[in-house]
Amino acid sequence: MNDIMRFCREIGTKPMNASRPSTLNDLSRRRFLNQSLFLLSSLALPQLARSESAPVTAGGLTQAPRETAQTFADPTWVRDAIRLMWAERKRSGVTPLLHLNPPFNQDLHLYLKHEAKSPTGSLKHRVAWGLVMGGLVNGAIGPKTHLFEATSGNTAIGEAYFATKLGLPYTAVMRPGISELKIKAIKQYGGQVAIAPPGMSPGVYLEQLRQATAEGYNLNQFANTEKVLDYFDADPDRNMNLAAEVYRQLAMEDLPCPDWFVAGAGSGGTATSIARYLRKWADFDGRNCPARLAVVDPEDSVLFDWYQTGNDSLSITTGSRIEGIGSSGPVVFGKTFRLLREGVAQMIKVPDSASLAGMQLVSDLVGFEVGPSTGTNFYGALRLLERMHREGRGGTIVTIICDEGSRYRDKYYNPEWIAQAGLQPEPWKTALSGFWETGQWQAV
Ligand SMILES: Cc1ncc(COP(=O)(O)O)c(C=O)c1O
Repeated sequence: MNDIMRFCREIGTKPMNASRPSTLNDLSRRRFLNQSLFLLSSLALPQLARSESAPVTAGGLTQAPRETAQTFADPTWVRDAIRLMWAERKRSGVTPLLHLNPPFNQDLHLYLKHEAKSPTGSLKHRVAWGLVMGGLVNGAIGPKTHLFEATSGNTAIGEAYFATKLGLPYTAVMRPGISELKIKAIKQYGGQVAIAPPGMSPGVYLEQLRQATAEGYNLNQFANTEKVLDYFDADPDRNMNLAAEVYRQLAMEDLPCPDWFVAGAGSGGTATSIARYLRKWADFDGRNCPARLAVVDPEDSVLFDWYQTGNDSLSITTGSRIEGIGSSGPVVFGKTFRLLREGVAQMIKVPDSASLAGMQLVSDLVGFEVGPSTGTNFYGALRLLERMHREGRGGTIVTIICDEGSRYRDKYYNPEWIAQAGLQPEPWKTALSGFWETGQWQAV
C-alpha cells in the first residue's frame, strides 16, 4: 500500500482515481453532476433569452438588464463558522508582556511578548485564526472541506484547533524529524499528521494528498498569510497584529516607544506583520516612534545571505535545527517565503549552540522553560542591548516567547539529543549569563 492509499484509508476515503467509489467520492461526483447540470441550465437559459430579445456584445456577453443568483458553500454553515471564529478571537484576549532589566544597566529594558500564553500555546495562533477566517470569507472553506498545511508544527497546532472547532478534518504535512511531542499536540487538538517520504518536500506531498481528497484546501501560510489582512493591520480592538498589541500594552503604562523588535522567521509572517506595523503606525497621532525590526537567523538557513545579497536563488540541503525558524531557500517573497526584505533593519546570524544557551538563560530568568526559537530571539536581543550599553544609551527592546519548552522535551531539553546533534551550549551559556550580569560580552 503506498503512502497516498494509507493516508486515504486513515481519513476514511479513497484516492480520487480508485476504482471502487467511496462515500466522499460519491458525494463529490453527485455534486459535480449537479453543478454540471446547473451550469448547463444556466448556460442554456441566457441562450434562450438571447434568441428572444437580449442584445449580445461582440464578446458574447449579455448586456440586457437581468438578475442571477448562485449559491456556493452552504451559507448558513459559513455564517455560523465565522461567528464561531469571532467568538474564539474575543475569548483569546491579549498575551502578557513580561519585563526584564539587565542588572548592569537600569536604563535598558527587555520586554518579552509571551505568545506561549495564547490558546494553542504559540505565536502561530494568530496566523492560524487569520488563515482559517480568510478561507471562510473567501468562500474556500465549506462544511465538507478537508484542510491541509505544510508546517513544522506550531501553525498546525493552531489550525488543528480551529478546524476541530468547525468540525472539519485537518492534516499537517511535515518533513521527518519534527519533535514527537509537537506531533502529539497536533493530534490532541484533533488534527492528523502526514510525514513526507524521504527526498520529497512537504509541499509536493501535500499537493498529492490534497488531490486525492474530495474537497481539499491548502491553508498555505507561505502564500496566503499576505492576504490575511487582520494579521497585518491594526484595528484597535480586533486586530491580530502582535506589534499593535505590544504598543497598546506599553502605552497603558506610559512607557516609551521601543528601539527594536527582535523576531525569527519561519514563514516570515510574524516578522513581516511587525515590520509593516512599525512603518505604518510610526507617526500615527503624533506617536513619533521610529522602532526597527531585527531578524535572527539560525545556522542552517539561507536568510542571512539572502538578506545581505538579495539573491533569491540561494538554497541549502540541510534543514534548520532550530524548529520553527530558518529557511533552506530559495527565498522568493510571496512564493516560498513571507519575509519582507525591505522591512528588516538588521539581520543577526545566531549559532545553534548559542540559541540553546539563550533558551536556557531565558528559562532561568522567567522561571519556566521556553522553546529554542525564543533562545535565538534572546541572543539577538542581547547583541542589541550590548551595543546600546557600549554606546552609553538606555532603551527598550521587545522580543517574543514563541512557545514553551514542554513541546521539546525529547529534543532541546534532552542531553542525549543535544550531544548527538553535536551542539555545545555550555560555553555560550557562561558567556551570555556573564553578559547579563556584568554587561561585558565575552567571545566564545
Ligand atoms: C517556535 C516558532 N518560533 C518562530 C516561528 C516563526 O514564525 P513565522 O512562521 O511567523 O515566521 C515559528 C513558526 O512556525 C515557530 O513555530
